[in-house]
Order: sequence, then C-alpha cells, then structure tokens
Amino acid sequence: MSIVSDDNDFQSNSIKDKKNPVIKPESIEPDKNFENCIRPKSFENYIGQSALKETIKITIEAAKKREQPLDHLLFYGPPGLGKTTLAGVIAQEMGVEIKITSAPALERPRDIIGILMSLQGGEILFIDEIHRLNKVAEEILYPAMEDFYLDMTTGKSQTVKTLRLPLPKFTLIGATTKAGELSGPLRDRFGIIHRLEFYTEDELAKVIKRTAGILNIEIDEKGARAIARRSRGTPRIANRLVKRVSDFALVKYNGKINEDIANESLDVLKIDEYGLDTTDRNLLKLIIDKYDGGPVGIETIAAAIGEDVRTIEDVCEPFLLQAGLLQRTPRGRKVSPETYRHLGYKSMVKSSQQSLF
Ligand code: ADE
Repeated sequence: MSIVSDDNDFQSNSIKDKKNPVIKPESIEPDKNFENCIRPKSFENYIGQSALKETIKITIEAAKKREQPLDHLLFYGPPGLGKTTLAGVIAQEMGVEIKITSAPALERPRDIIGILMSLQGGEILFIDEIHRLNKVAEEILYPAMEDFYLDMTTGKSQTVKTLRLPLPKFTLIGATTKAGELSGPLRDRFGIIHRLEFYTEDELAKVIKRTAGILNIEIDEKGARAIARRSRGTPRIANRLVKRVSDFALVKYNGKINEDIANESLDVLKIDEYGLDTTDRNLLKLIIDKYDGGPVGIETIAAAIGEDVRTIEDVCEPFLLQAGLLQRTPRGRKVSPETYRHLGYKSMVKSSQQSLF
C-alpha cells in the first residue's frame, strides 16, 4: 500500500489505521510542515474566496440538516490558492475525518481500493491532482462515487467472479490545476464544481498579517501590503515571502518588517513589482529576444530555459496569463505590449524599424 498524503497535519488526526501508513517521515518537506502549521482550520480564519465560502457553508448546513454526507466536490484553479486547506476546513466544519492523497500515489488498483475500503461513513477523501488519475483508478471510482460500492474481480478468464463490496457513504473532494484534463465521466460525478480565484492585495495582506502573528513576526500594515503586492495573488507565495523577508529584517535590521525593508528584501530576492521571479522574466525575455514576441511552442520554451513543461504550465503560466503578460494561442505562447513595457523594452519592434509603442 503506498498511499501518500501531502499533509501530515491532517494525517495525524485522520488516518489512524497503522497498517495504512499514509506518509513516510522522510517524505515530509519542510515547506509542507510550515504550510500545515499556518493553515486555517475554520471558515472564520480562512481569508478570501468569499463567494465560494458562502456557497459551501450553505451546502454544509443542508447536508447536516439532511444528516447526509456532502455531495462530491471538485475544486480547480492555480496551485497555492488553498484547495487542500479548504478541504480541511470543510472536514472540520462537518465534524468528520479527512484522508488526503494525490492521484500519482494511486498508481495501482489496490492503492485506490485500499483507501476507499479504509473510509468510515461520512468521511472525506481528498484527491489532489485528480486530473492525473489513471483510467483503471477512475473506473474503480465511478461506482464508488455514484452508488458507494466496489466491484472486485477474482479468478482468471473462465473462472472470473465479480464481488460487489458495499462502501460507507463518503464525500470525495477532488482538486486540480487543470479542470480541462479531467475526463467527462469523472467530472460529471461531482455534484459541486468550484473555481478558486487569485487573491486581492487586501486579502493577501490579511493572510500575511495572520501568518506573521502565528510566527511571532512583527510587521506593519504597509510592510504587509508591500509583500502582498508581489505575491502573485497566491497565499502560498505570500506566506513564503513573509518568512524570507523576516529573515532579511532580522539579519539586516531589528527584525521588524516595514514597507522599506519589505521592498529592499524583495529586490534582493529578485522578485519584481508584479511578483515575477527570475524564471518568469527569463521565459518572457526568451519569447521577446529569440522569437520576436512569439508565438512559440511550450516545449521550445521549456528546453531553452531549462524548466519542465509541467512546471511552466502549472506554476509560471497561470499568473502570467491572468496578469496579461502572456497569451496562449493555437500556435504557441506570445507576449503582449504590456510585457515589453514591464521588462523595460523601449520598442516592440526590431531596432531597424522606427515605430515605438
Ligand atoms: N494561508 C493560506 N491560505 C490562507 C487563507 N485562505 N486564509 C488564511 N491563511 C491562509
């Protein structure tokens, strides 16, 4: 059994089955530990996504009144916006346990069967990166999601027997950065589908102040806003930057974060006013310098800047697209006039031509 959780905080109070070790100590990343310790556990502490929160609160209340588990939910949107966190909050609000795994950890049929059979009535199963689930695992999930049973086959060819195993009623929460890559039949089995939005500067400043409070970091309003502005609308990035800026403030100043210290520190980290880092800028500059602004294929970009396609698609692109600095076309990626301006190019055309913006 190799069910791998990406969230040891949840694991400690959710998976009690000793035969089902959900996470190996050596696989706990420091970043995950940090994320877990600052994760909000209730709607009250969960900042942002207000429309989504309101809808989910009503769904939870209705499910409680009916004494039924929640409908299966699908969350999609760029990484770092709080899909796992929200699943944890829902479990807490429903008063049920949550088991957390991700599609790449459900490679063999017995992985998904094992975790389904370990569920108790009403529990939540959270599958991250659900678009990466293989066909066999998907087929096992369909009857489990729809009618709460598993079809198991035993024996070979002529002696094959099908055994129908009932499962307790559970709620599946799926999360994906790529809703478009989910198969139609799987998507159709989710009763509720929601998109998580990028956070506003106000919301991120609140997230930053909350995190600073938990970590005993002193920060003023303008300092929080300076970090929020460069966090690409993403709480995960905001939280990491608070820590980096706090290190800087401690070593170079008196440890307190204000606007000047935040800006100086983020400049040193080479994070610009849009929140772009060196990789983002290299990607955009490549399209401008080598491909005349594009369009150019993603594989070519990936090879040229030494990143893998998935990282570019999942991590870099969502924000660049939303910020209008990158466009996706059928013939590849291209930049916009705003990209030239932001990166300090004087003109969008080659120097032999005269026209400026
Ligand atoms: N940390 C990460 N996401 C958060 C959120 N939505 N609210 C509060 N703290 C967070």
